Amino acid sequence: MSKVLVTGGTGYIGSHTVVELINEGFEVVIVDNLSNSSVDVLDGIEKITGVRPAFENIDCIEYVSMDRMFSKHENIDAIIHFAASKAVGESVEKPLLYYRNNLGSLINILQLMPIHKVKNFVFSSSCTVYGQPDVLPVTEDAPIKPAMSPYGNTKQIGEEIIRDTIYAAPSLYTSIILRYFNPIGAHPSAEIGELPNGVPNNLLPFVTQTAIGLRKQLQVFGDDYDTPDGSCIRDYIHVVDLAKAHVVAVKRMLSGEAASNVETFNLGTGRGLSVLEILNTFEKVNDIKVPYKIVGRREGDIEKVWADPAYANDVLGWKATESVEETLRSAWAWEKNLAGKRN
Ligand code: UFG
Repeated sequence: MSKVLVTGGTGYIGSHTVVELINEGFEVVIVDNLSNSSVDVLDGIEKITGVRPAFENIDCIEYVSMDRMFSKHENIDAIIHFAASKAVGESVEKPLLYYRNNLGSLINILQLMPIHKVKNFVFSSSCTVYGQPDVLPVTEDAPIKPAMSPYGNTKQIGEEIIRDTIYAAPSLYTSIILRYFNPIGAHPSAEIGELPNGVPNNLLPFVTQTAIGLRKQLQVFGDDYDTPDGSCIRDYIHVVDLAKAHVVAVKRMLSGEAASNVETFNLGTGRGLSVLEILNTFEKVNDIKVPYKIVGRREGDIEKVWADPAYANDVLGWKATESVEETLRSAWAWEKNLAGKRN
């Protein structure tokens, strides 16, 4: 049984990926400092899979603790590195926190890998590296644009750190960089899902929290963009589809199929949807009204971006399959499950 270390494994994308790894027969070790997640997520993973993964409450920024963790959990075959701070606005206010957390953690892990004879590394990157692309849908060859925030910059610099590290020691590493578009939705069991701390920054948790009555009103940031209905367009992908791509990436590296030491893939559906389309579809499929008002643009927002997923489809043999309707139903089922636990 191959063993995979998942940093940030109790987080949103991390927990869904842990479930898919366990379903595919992998042994999983989670490292998470619970800074933006709860230990209860382990219960959800266990309910779905029947397996409780090993869990270490460690901050990846702590080199010595990570070194000890690698010694304790011997023979790790691959690492999926999710652990990172991810709030765009907060990163503008606290840039050093973001550079320290996101880059320090990455550097620690890359340094420790050869010491503990771990070769395979999956990195969580983001479509944010493309900024506003000149050509849509955006392919992996599109130019990297100046980052709009320190958070986005940590993803760009993170990718560069990986490439430079592997260039210097190609026999020691294989890496797959995954550029996520906008993950939404929850596991069909509604046992795990997105659980942001405090007021959500992202669209879907704000929509579901408004629908359940935790928030008074959704603000739609701008209806004067150059898009058919004036609101911004994104490529929303079901988090379970996204999670499955990680399993494919790990298998690809373990079986030696990777075409080079560093490969980069877009993980999106290829379909762009506007904020208002998401909102209307959410209301329709869940038969619920979401109070909203149109307000001014949010600083730093990209007008429109969606993926060309052809490279991932062809080379990884992976494709996002869930419909947006099903995805939005799963998001609502998760919010209702959370409400049940609160009452
Ligand atoms: N939006 C609203 N109201 C809200 C929240 C969001 O109208 O309350 C709109 C935004 O303006 C945007 C769309 O919904 O048009 C999606 O916004 P999100 O914040 O959910 O997602 P972003 O595309 O802005 O950001 C996401 C991740 C980032 C990542 C980025 C890459 O949150 O971590 O994608 O483009 F960097």
